[in-house]
Amino acid sequence: MTCFSCFFGKGDSSVRRTVEIDEVLSALKNVKLYSYKDLRTATENFDPANKIGEGGFGSVYKAKLKDGTLAAIKVLSAESRQGVPEFLTEINVIANIEHENLVKLYGCCVEENHRILVYGYLENNSLAQAFIGRGHSSMQFAWHMRRRICLDVARGLAFLHEEVQPHIIHRDIKASNVLLDKDLRAKISDFGLAKLIPASMTHISTRVAGTAGYLAPEYAIRGQVTRKADIYSFGVLLLEIVSGRSNTNKRLPAKDQYLLERAWNLYEKGEIVELVDTVVNDDNDLMEACKFMKIALFCTQDMPKLRPAMSTVVEMLSGDKDVNDMMTISKPGLLSEFMGLKGNTKVSSYVLSADSGKTSSSGMEMDTSVATMTFNSIYDRSN
Ligand SMILES: Nc1ncnc2c1ncn2[C@@H]1O[C@H](COP(=O)(O)OP(=O)(O)O)[C@@H](O)[C@H]1O
Ligand SMILES: [Mg+2]
Repeated sequence: MTCFSCFFGKGDSSVRRTVEIDEVLSALKNVKLYSYKDLRTATENFDPANKIGEGGFGSVYKAKLKDGTLAAIKVLSAESRQGVPEFLTEINVIANIEHENLVKLYGCCVEENHRILVYGYLENNSLAQAFIGRGHSSMQFAWHMRRRICLDVARGLAFLHEEVQPHIIHRDIKASNVLLDKDLRAKISDFGLAKLIPASMTHISTRVAGTAGYLAPEYAIRGQVTRKADIYSFGVLLLEIVSGRSNTNKRLPAKDQYLLERAWNLYEKGEIVELVDTVVNDDNDLMEACKFMKIALFCTQDMPKLRPAMSTVVEMLSGDKDVNDMMTISKPGLLSEFMGLKGNTKVSSYVLSADSGKTSSSGMEMDTSVATMTFNSIYDRSN
């Protein structure tokens, strides 16, 4: 029998738990373990010049691994520390998921107190930096590129929802979690991370102001974690990609601040074309862009069960399934409206109470999660 602590150093009480080596090794089928020293070298001592981002889970560095491969290294913050076996079990799940539209997890470092994830590096950064909202790069994204990005993301999400067993709910679909590779193909990042962090610091309670625009009301308010909440977020992202605007813009007049609300108002007046980014001007492209907006509205309907499954969304986006004029779309779920306020301060307290499991099961709809589901669970047991 080999002790886990011999493997990972002596500093962390959790690693002192003795675990048989066979169990450990079998859990590491596709996970490469990196030493802290190697990652320090790869990032030039975590040089701030190599830092490419800072998210809710910690800092992200660009790194060059020993074999010359470029990687993105996510150093999880202290609060997200988990015992080694639990951490590796989750990492193993993530590392086994491979799809051309999902960012590849190469491995991790679990030495002493460090919890570091090593991902494939994507050269063209995130959608948020590429073309959505203020302060984005000057790259021009023509319609055919946007169309392809929408389909890439939809396929990646359909894979997580419908092919992976047990299926995975992303819970943080947003523009900064869609990364672009050297050929500007889109890949979804950060899937499966929800299980790595304690309930007290889920992205949703700590960063609710930044992500509120993507949150399905039933998720934000009642903590109901289902695939339908991801589909809602995808709908909001679709609107962002087609319009080139961020889901929330506080500098606009109150009625226009939320992209989804604005899209719905224009759709009802038959003027949704106004929201399409001005770089799209060919008539056929404009028609298709309007169709994509309609699909987005389909995904963001208030009633979760009316939102289509991701595989259906893929069919609609690719033209394999008709999106005809007869299709009725009901009003989107608007968090701001539900809360009766435009700011988001109240949302976090609702969300925090959902986190601590205080929400009751009363009033839950049939297609939503079981009563014991909390924000820390990523598996959708609803259907
Ligand atoms: N694999 C990667 N390749 C290139 N850049 C990445 C990668 N992963 C993350 N990044 C960059 O680091 C930033 C921070 O990432 P993250 O910690 O996940 O926070 P968030 O998703 O909230 O932006 C991202 O917005 C992106 O610009
Ligand atoms: Mg991210």
